[in-house]
Amino acid sequence: MAREASELAALLGRHGQQHVLAFWDKLSARERVILGEQIAALDFGLLERAQRQDPAAKSEALNLEPEPFIRLPYDAQSVLKWRQARHVGQEALAAGRVAAMVVAGGQGTRLGFDGPKGAFPIGPISRRTLFQIHAEKVLAASRRYAREIPFLIMTGPSNDSETKYFFKQHGFFGLPHDSVKIFQQSQMPAVDMKGKLILDAPDHIFVSPDGHGGSLKALWDCGIAAWLEQRGVDTISYFQVDNPLVSVLDPCFIGFHIEAGAEMSLKLLERSDPDEKLGIWVNNGGAAMVIEYSDMPEAEMHACTPDGSLKYPGGSIAIHCFDVGFVRRLNEKGIALPYHRARKKVAYLDSSGALIQPDEPNATKFEMFVFDALLLAKKTVAVETARAEEFSPVKNAEGADSPETARRDMARQYARWLHSIGVTVRTDANGDPADMIEISPLVADDSETLRMNYCGPNDVRGSLLLAQ
Ligand code: UTP
Repeated sequence: MAREASELAALLGRHGQQHVLAFWDKLSARERVILGEQIAALDFGLLERAQRQDPAAKSEALNLEPEPFIRLPYDAQSVLKWRQARHVGQEALAAGRVAAMVVAGGQGTRLGFDGPKGAFPIGPISRRTLFQIHAEKVLAASRRYAREIPFLIMTGPSNDSETKYFFKQHGFFGLPHDSVKIFQQSQMPAVDMKGKLILDAPDHIFVSPDGHGGSLKALWDCGIAAWLEQRGVDTISYFQVDNPLVSVLDPCFIGFHIEAGAEMSLKLLERSDPDEKLGIWVNNGGAAMVIEYSDMPEAEMHACTPDGSLKYPGGSIAIHCFDVGFVRRLNEKGIALPYHRARKKVAYLDSSGALIQPDEPNATKFEMFVFDALLLAKKTVAVETARAEEFSPVKNAEGADSPETARRDMARQYARWLHSIGVTVRTDANGDPADMIEISPLVADDSETLRMNYCGPNDVRGSLLLAQ
């Protein structure tokens, strides 16, 4: 039913946003309904809270110290610790206590791919997509632990229906349909430099996804947390869609998380370049947290210990474990994650109704960051992982962190696994595999599994694709 213009005007007027009705007189009845519903659904309280907040850590308020984390095994005792964690994680997986979750709601602007980022063909030879690789890893784990493992996929408004269609079209990559849950995150309106909502069409207010931190809210709002609880799942293994190397259900990481009774945990890698754009693991005034690289004072980013290594060695790669009870606790009283501001270019209508593409950032978008939830967790565990084994994100179309570097890192990983089981792989002058190699997660997702399943040549010459 069409909402009365006077009712909408009064609502908007209370929040200083009357300009949203600038084109009302020119709208058709249908367009008035569309805009009216969008206005009625706006959470002005939330928007005003987001506008007031500035969670970006102020350098003068920081009191930073390094925060320890569990290092990769380095001596006999730590080997035992890792083995024990692995055992705990494997038991949890075999008991059906764990779900895998990928956040895929972003807009993938830098990659510029026409479609959901997860549908990007990344396989070095097969061109299997990011979604297929992740789904096959979940399927491989389900087979290994003889348990159906739920696969949760968070989408955003720009890619939700395409993602659903994509999974359907590909038969859910062999996963049982009802174990795959595709759910959508919320959106937040942006505001211009005067704090005003932005019309990007006469009947539409510009909105964008509310950040990867929105996953903790969406898990609750979409009923996924309750569904997991009913199935006896208490742990979520969380990762980003654009990292084809990620171990989606790492038993060691899950084991450390469960052993410690943590509410939220994270994986870290050794920062190699002080200017690398990774969140940094620190202790700020007694609280263990990830600080955005852009909020870290330059001197601290570069600070070194007397032996020349970085003072803050841990970089966050957005791999987490959550306790489902933590998701419940965070949401029961309304999620309290702060909104971060990002200055962006957003197309807008001018007073004549023409759509203007700005040359400079003209708007503030509001996003929640998942790592801010670490500060709300009663207990967290930080665990190191090896960069070469677990991190090669696809962010840009070319250059660093691009499909080319990710395919190279995938082929390097497969070559290392082959080498570790005694198979010779031809290398080039840089020591990289001379030919393309690809191993489907259904054949092996680590060197141990490859040892059991490998039936290829002992001397690889030419490209090698191992798939089922
Ligand atoms: P990025 O911050 O790299 O954003 O997201 P992006 O959308 O992939 O790429 P750009 O910045 O537009 O080029 C890191 C991860 O968080 C997810 C993304 O899908 C990706 O897996 N994400 C990001 C969400 O799920 N929702 C969001 O609102 C933002």
